[in-house]
Amino acid sequence: MSIDPEPPAVEIDLTSQAFKRDPFPTLARMRGLGPVIRVRLPLFGKVWMATTYDAVNDLLRDHQRFVQSPATAGNRRMGAIVRWLPRSLKPLASNMLLRDPPDHRRLRSLVDQAFRRQSVEALRPRLEALADEALDRLEAARSPGGVDLLAHFARPFPLAVICEILGLPPEDRPMFTRWASQFSTATGFLGIVRGLVFGVRRLLRYARDEFRRQSVQPRGGLMAALIEAEEAGDRLTEDELVAMVFLVLAAGHETTLHQIAHNVLTLLDHPQQLAELRADWGLADSAAQELLRYVSFAQVSKPRYARADAEFYGRTIRRGQMIFACLAAANSDPAIFEAPERLDIHRQPNRHVAFGTGIHVCLGATLARVETAIAMERLFTRFPRFELAIPRLQVRFSARIGTRGLVALPVKW
Ligand code: HEM
Repeated sequence: MSIDPEPPAVEIDLTSQAFKRDPFPTLARMRGLGPVIRVRLPLFGKVWMATTYDAVNDLLRDHQRFVQSPATAGNRRMGAIVRWLPRSLKPLASNMLLRDPPDHRRLRSLVDQAFRRQSVEALRPRLEALADEALDRLEAARSPGGVDLLAHFARPFPLAVICEILGLPPEDRPMFTRWASQFSTATGFLGIVRGLVFGVRRLLRYARDEFRRQSVQPRGGLMAALIEAEEAGDRLTEDELVAMVFLVLAAGHETTLHQIAHNVLTLLDHPQQLAELRADWGLADSAAQELLRYVSFAQVSKPRYARADAEFYGRTIRRGQMIFACLAAANSDPAIFEAPERLDIHRQPNRHVAFGTGIHVCLGATLARVETAIAMERLFTRFPRFELAIPRLQVRFSARIGTRGLVALPVKW
């Protein structure tokens, strides 16, 4: 295979409303440019991106050549950003999504059990009860002009679930919602800095204080289990403890809430398939999987860095260079998925990579699947005459790069 070391970077619009509304044509264009392309992204500049199903899988599973830590790969610029983080934000760099083995293995093994299939299945009745409680509040917020499903159901439900798993007091949830939304709605450099200072810093300080409180008075839940592991000599630093809670809390609801809102929107766009689902909730898991593929909320992975110069799909990725996996492009690769731009709740097999793959595959994958399936079933069963409260074209998407979130989802019934 011939090696083209540095092709010119292409400009690809991954933030516009048009792209978020219908990403399939752009994703097809990206794949058409090659399995690994050079693109220019806002904030990041010129980076590499894997665009096909095979290239994405190979990238995310090659932990020898592609690593999470910029310092390991000699990327001084990104390494310096991590080093120069203020003390209050330092735990951000300790989270396991940014760590490589053996640290990653040590951290992940502490939380894996809580998110395994059996543990999640055992939680199912409680998840259903929390979904119903969130729906009670949605109903209470109902008004003739419509109600925002995102704020009144899609966010509170997964937040309640993850707080319960962590063992955080229910009365603190509105506070997390405020902080998290300060960060999650931020776009652009200044917005992100503001979000870090006002949202993330407060959340990190809260996690640190809560660890101290639970060291004396444990509440039961994952946080107490982590404190026990630390005390039993599992070599967790305080920053690592705080980072873990922050990661699980943030990743455990910011993702799922947008998936739930998108699922509702997508099913309303496909009334035939919604009717089939309503007639047979046995299809809920298969529908949840297909919606994960179709929506691909996490459109792009976190960056990987080449540990040394590497040849990858005919390109030379230089030591320290950044490479992303475009999960949305992999999930719509026609080499793997027949008619990928078509929603098909019966699709089998459905080996999507909406949760990534390799050692950093989503910790909460089973939980998210079960939560989104429960959310659909409870919502559409309770409110069968459910519709958008605004014209479809007025539904707005967050401009943030790499994810496909909605700003709001006004509905009525
Ligand atoms: C629909 C919902 C979700 C989606 C689409 C999603 C997506 C992802 C993706 C794509 C990754 C891998 C990123 C990469 O390799 O760069 C990931 C990792 C992760 N996710 Fe999720 N996620 C979801 C829900 C959750 C939930 C409910 C939790 C709660 C525990 C969670 C916790 C995590 C954690 C801790 C990681 C890092 C794992 C590691 O580094 O080993 N996610 N997620």
